[in-house]
Amino acid sequence: MSAWLAVEGLGLTEGGTRIIDDVSLHLAAQRTVVLGPNGAGKSTLLRLIHGLLHPSVGELHWPQALTQAMVFQRPVMLRTTALANVIYGLKLKCYTATECDRRARQALARVGLEALAKRPARLLSGGEQQRVALARAWALEPELLILDEPTASLDPASSREVERIIGDIAAAGARILMTTHNLGQARRLAQEIVFIDSGRIAEQAPVAEFFHAPRTDAAKRFLEDETP
Ligand SMILES: Nc1ncnc2c1ncn2[C@@H]1O[C@H](COP(=O)(O)OP(=O)(O)OP(=O)(O)O)[C@@H](O)[C@H]1O
Ligand SMILES: [Mg+2]
Repeated sequence: MSAWLAVEGLGLTEGGTRIIDDVSLHLAAQRTVVLGPNGAGKSTLLRLIHGLLHPSVGELHWPQALTQAMVFQRPVMLRTTALANVIYGLKLKCYTATECDRRARQALARVGLEALAKRPARLLSGGEQQRVALARAWALEPELLILDEPTASLDPASSREVERIIGDIAAAGARILMTTHNLGQARRLAQEIVFIDSGRIAEQAPVAEFFHAPRTDAAKRFLEDETP
């Protein structure tokens, strides 16, 4: 498997603190989950990869340019309908109002929200808003979808629904790079785990290997602490 992203010597320093420290990483799996304790640097790493932050040092090599979309823990909804939120994300990707409308409705249908298309997005439940955010991302037909704790604010039923949608987006061919504190979710969605600790890569392994035979003490401690 050849890497779709090679990270070389990546570092980010903010206010004298090294948040990401000499990270080198080859991502080749279709579905990768980044795990690590609070403050490890997971969100920062994803933001660097998505280009929302600029590294202090190091480089990202994309063997081929990938269209990307990112979904966050708390969905950012514009003060308009669910449908208009999805259309807004599509603005640069469709040519006529009819085409934009059709593609946005199709994306809402894929996440099971066609009936709520005309509802004000900010009045939807947290789980519904996250599905609108996923529809907005999916409508872009990303080759890489980055998700930062997409289910952290949701109840178990909504989380499973969001997981199902992420699985569908992967099945449609997108690469998935995400973080979660839900280890069950990591097992279900990941092919490969990247474990980070204090801004450094501590371990990168196929999912079964990581959970059954973590190699580092940091990963062992993390798995013990996070397992209920
Ligand atoms: N702009 C910034 N300036 C200074 N410190 C920052 C900045 N952004 C993040 N940090 C610090 O960098 C560290 C990594 O933060 P990050 O949000 O990436 O962690 P995380 O692994 O996503 O944690 P969590 O599991 O809590 O979401 C934290 O200690 C955080 O306080
Ligand atoms: Mg985070």
